Amino acid sequence: MKLSVIGSGHVGLVTGVCFAEKGHEMLCVDHDTEKLARLKKGESPFYEPGMNELLQKHLATGRLKFSGRTEDAVEFGQAIFICVGTPSTPRGKADMTYIEKAAQTIAENLKEYRLVIEKSTVPIQTGERLKRTIARYVKGDAQFDVASNPEFLREGTAIEDTLKPDRVVIGVDSAKAEALLREIYAGFNCPIVVTSVGSAELIKHASNSFLALKITFANWLARLCEASGADVEQVVHGMGLDHRIGRHFLNAGIGYGGSCFPKDVDALAHIAEELRVDASLIRLISDTNKSQLQRFYEKMESELWVLNDKTIAIWGLAFKPNTDDLREAPALRLIDMLKKAGAKLRVHDPVAMPNTRKVHPDLYYARDAIDACAGADALAVCTEWPQYRELDLAKVKASLRVPIVFDGRNCLDRKRAAELNIRLLGIGKGPIGAQ
Ligand code: UGA
Repeated sequence: MKLSVIGSGHVGLVTGVCFAEKGHEMLCVDHDTEKLARLKKGESPFYEPGMNELLQKHLATGRLKFSGRTEDAVEFGQAIFICVGTPSTPRGKADMTYIEKAAQTIAENLKEYRLVIEKSTVPIQTGERLKRTIARYVKGDAQFDVASNPEFLREGTAIEDTLKPDRVVIGVDSAKAEALLREIYAGFNCPIVVTSVGSAELIKHASNSFLALKITFANWLARLCEASGADVEQVVHGMGLDHRIGRHFLNAGIGYGGSCFPKDVDALAHIAEELRVDASLIRLISDTNKSQLQRFYEKMESELWVLNDKTIAIWGLAFKPNTDDLREAPALRLIDMLKKAGAKLRVHDPVAMPNTRKVHPDLYYARDAIDACAGADALAVCTEWPQYRELDLAKVKASLRVPIVFDGRNCLDRKRAAELNIRLLGIGKGPIGAQ
């Protein structure tokens, strides 16, 4: 089928390359000319494993094309995915400017039936608004439907998640829209959940907020473990074996980040409050998450006493492994706090250093993880890149001035650290090593 995508960011571009991989003809649109120039050369504007390969493959097969004009998207695809950004305001209200602009342009250029699909994460009831906006601005008598088809991809595994999803959710209010979406997803081997547009929108928000709640529960448990002498990893292992609970997303750490959880949790609370539904449970997720990093910083301060003039190594800058995305990355907040306290920072990340340099040009960007530790008074691990787990802790100890490690992701080998007499302070477990 011929399909269009408006907005070639993380969601839009992954949608474009993955549907091309499934045999559809795709036209992806973006207004950023610099980004378009890179995309046309087969270069992804962000780091995502497997993205460049698929991009180049389907530029070559001709199944993937790019344009700077939204009008082209309306003409090209029988179905149009809206994947533009919905940035959030401080209390969580999403800014819908780009969505509305896309809807107006679709309406003004509508010549024959089109299925308009919201794929960006949008507040509930956006489908209704979209429908009304298109109906208001449409010029002729061309028909259209609006559907919701939320994405559940994770950065770092976006292509795998999209090609092999756990489920596909389609929110529709006409048989024609359902038939088209079923045809689009014919090549996918997973359950297709058909709901109303409003329910599909809520499934997306509820899923993200529930996952954020699971993480936050584990982080709260970690506090209780630290206070009581229990070990959070043992606790969540024991809990997670119960199928009703599950082990995923129960890893305690320095809090969740990224472009989705912080924004979506706040947005869900905001919408609930607008609808006069008490949202204190959801607000608490966000507040507890923010204080998790504060606690980590306080742990560093209490252990290191004076931070002013101390040299601290930081491993991991991206909000999670396998991405160069720094949005709401806990490491960036920690850097701000440590800088304010007068610490000198030596940082490392396998792919996110160029992006970090744009915000913090004044840090020392290390050649590798061991170089980051050279002469440092302590090391703080903020992102659990697999290559950090694999490093020989003896080399880490030899490089540090004082062998103190704050493991914000519980990803280092505690047994080995104990053998080497490294002082290791994790999350939700007692410290090991000499004082
Ligand atoms: C998240 C969801 O997992 C996707 O299903 C969803 O499609 C996406 O948001 C979105 O709305 O677009 P993503 O933000 O890419 O995906 O990354 P996650 O793997 O969910 O991680 C989010 C944050 O939670 C990271 O900072 C990660 O370190 C943290 N996390 C995750 C924990 O602290 N503990 C865990 O157990 C799991």
